[in-house]
Amino acid sequence: MITRETIDEVKNRIDIVDVISDFVSLKKSGQNYKALSPFNNEKSPSFFVVPSKGIFKDFSSGKGGDAFTFVMEHEKLSYAEAIRYLAKKYGVEIKEDRTQSESKEEQSERESLYILMNFAKEYYKNALLQVEEGRSIGLSYFRERGFNDRTIEKFELGYALEGWENFSKEAIAKGYNKDLLEKTGLVVKKDDGSSYDRFRGRVIFPVHNLAGKVIAFGARMLGKEKNQPKYINSPETDIYHKSDVLYGLYQAKNAIRQNDVCYLVEGYTDVISMHQADVENVVASSGTALTENQIKLIRRFTENITVLFDGDAAGIKAALRGIDMILKGGLNVRVLLFPDNDDPDSFSRKVGTTEFQKYLKEHTQDFVSFKANLFAKEAAGDPIKKAESIKEIVSSIAVIPDPIKRSVYIQETSHLLKISEPVLLSELNKILIQERRKTDKDKSREPDAQETPIPVEDIEPQVKVDAQSLVHYQERETIRLLLNYADQSVEQSKLTDFLVHELEDVEFNNPIFKDIYEKFKTAASSNQPIDSHYFLHEGNDAVKAAVSDLITPRYDTSPHWSDKYHIYIPKEKDVLNEMALSNVLRLKFRVVQKMMEDNLQKVKQAESSGNWEELDRALEMQTGLKKAESELAGSLGIVVAK
Ligand code: CTP
Ligand code: MN
Repeated sequence: MITRETIDEVKNRIDIVDVISDFVSLKKSGQNYKALSPFNNEKSPSFFVVPSKGIFKDFSSGKGGDAFTFVMEHEKLSYAEAIRYLAKKYGVEIKEDRTQSESKEEQSERESLYILMNFAKEYYKNALLQVEEGRSIGLSYFRERGFNDRTIEKFELGYALEGWENFSKEAIAKGYNKDLLEKTGLVVKKDDGSSYDRFRGRVIFPVHNLAGKVIAFGARMLGKEKNQPKYINSPETDIYHKSDVLYGLYQAKNAIRQNDVCYLVEGYTDVISMHQADVENVVASSGTALTENQIKLIRRFTENITVLFDGDAAGIKAALRGIDMILKGGLNVRVLLFPDNDDPDSFSRKVGTTEFQKYLKEHTQDFVSFKANLFAKEAAGDPIKKAESIKEIVSSIAVIPDPIKRSVYIQETSHLLKISEPVLLSELNKILIQERRKTDKDKSREPDAQETPIPVEDIEPQVKVDAQSLVHYQERETIRLLLNYADQSVEQSKLTDFLVHELEDVEFNNPIFKDIYEKFKTAASSNQPIDSHYFLHEGNDAVKAAVSDLITPRYDTSPHWSDKYHIYIPKEKDVLNEMALSNVLRLKFRVVQKMMEDNLQKVKQAESSGNWEELDRALEMQTGLKKAESELAGSLGIVVAK
C-alpha cells in the first residue's frame, strides 16, 4: 500500500493542466482550457479542463474527474498505478506500508492530528473570548489593532493563556494522548521526559488548509519584550508542510476567483487588515520566501498575482525574488510598494478603506516598470549601472515560459527605456541560449518512450508574430545590403553574387523588393554591376522612395552607445560577412515560417472537408518545413518554440 502521506504529497504538487498537457494539447479558453477529446474522435473540442477546480470534463464521452481519474482513464491504470505515475512525474518518493493495517493506522493518525488541532483551535478561541485573561490581554490587543468581531471569527483568532501546562492538562483531561500532543507540535517534550505547552501568553493565528481544516498555528507576542521571537510557529508535521501553504488562502479563494487577481503579502496581520479594508483576495507567504508549490496553489484560482511589500530594502529584495519565481511559474505579476516604512497593515489603518483601495488601484505597476523605476534611481548618471539595469529587466523576461508574453514585455521595455528592440532581443537570446545549454547538459534526456504521431494542434507555430511582416522585414534587409554594399566582397565573391547564389530558391514577396532584386540578379549574370544610383535614376517613384529610404543610415546610435555605455558596436562594413550570411539564413527562416503558416491553413481545410489524401500531403509538408525551420534556427542560434 502506498502511504497516505505519499498520496497527499502527490496531490499537493499536481497541476492538472500540466498533467493533462502530457497527453493532450490544451488551448486556453478564458480561465479554462479546451481540446479535442482524447477519448473520442471529434471535430470540435468538447474536452474541458478547469484548473481552478482541479478537474476535467469530457462532454463527448461523459468522463470527468481530477488528475488521478484522468491518468487512470487515459492510461488505463489502476488507482495505485496512477499514483505511482504521478509521483514519478513530480519527483515524489513513494513510501509504502508493509501491511494494510499499518496504513489504516497511519491514516487514522492523520485524522487524529486534525481532530486535535481543531480541539486546540476551539480551546484558544474560547480563551480569547470567554476567559478573563484572554479578554483583557488578547482581545484588547486585537481591538487595538482594529480587528472587529467578524474578522476575529472569520480567522478564528485565539489566545494562549500564560502558564506552562494549561493547554496540555485540558487536552489530556479530554482524552488526547501525550504522543499525539507532541506530534501536533502543540506540546514540546524535554530531554528529561517532561513537557510543556509551546504557545503561552500569546495571541493565536490558526493556519487553515484549503478545506478549512486547521493545520498549524502562529503565535504572536503581545508586548515588545526583547530576547523573544515575535512569532512562535507550529513545526512541520505530517499535516503541515510550511512551503506548501499560504496563509489566508482558505478565506481568500472565492474573492481571488471573482477578482481574478491574488494579492501577495508578507504577514498574518497584513492579510487580516486587508480583509478589514474589504480587500479579501489576499494571501501571505508568512515570512518565508515564496515557493513553487505556493505559486501553483494560487494558479488554481487565478493567473494574476500582485505582490505587495513595504518599500524598505528587505521588502524590495523579497519582491524581486518573488517576481522571478512567479514569472517562472507562468503567471502574470504586478507589484505595489508602500511608501516609507508602511506595510499593507499599517498603511490601510493609516489611510482607511477608501483611500487604501484607491492606492491599490493607482499604484500597481507591472514588473517591467517596477524594475525600471527601481534601477532608474540607482542608475541615474551612471552608464554602467544603466546597462546592468537593462540586463536585470531582460533576465526577468527570460524566465517567462511563454514566448508571446516575452516579446510583449520586450516591446514595453524598449518603449520605457528608449532602447531599440533588437538590442534587447539579442540580450534576451543570449540568456535563453545559455539557459538552454544549461538544461540540455543537466538532463541526459532519455528518448521518449513511444513515438506518437503529432496531433494537428501541435503543429501550429506557437510564436504568433505575423509571419508575413517578418518575411517583409528580411526581404527589405536583403535589398538594403545589396543597395549599400553590392560590390563589397563576401566569402570570396561579390555580395551580389553571393546573395543571388544563396537565395536561388527564394521568391520575393514584395513587388518592389522583387523588382529591385531581379535587376541585381540580371546585372550580376550579365556582369554589368549596378548600385543604388542606378535605381535613383532609372526606377519609378515607388522604387526611388524605397531605395532612398534604404540607403539612409538608420541607426546612428553607435557613438552614443560607445561613449555612454562603453559598448562597442562594430560598423556594418566590418561585419559584412556575418551580416550577409545571417541575412540569408534569416530570410529563409522567415520564408519557411510563412510557408508553415500558409500550409497550416491547408491542413485545417483538408481536415474539415475530410480530404484525407490532401491532409496527408499537407501534414508531410508541414513536417518537412518544421525540420527545415529547426535546421535554419540551429545555424542561426535561435531558440525556436517547439
Ligand atoms: N514571522 C515569523 N516569525 C518571526 C517574524 C515573522 O514567522 N519571528 C512571519 C509571520 O508569519 C509574520 C510574517 O513573518 O506574519 C511577517 O513578519 P512581520 O511583518 O514582522 O509580522 P506581522 O505579522 O506583520 O506583525 P506586526 O504587523 O504586528 O509587526
Ligand atoms: Mn507587519
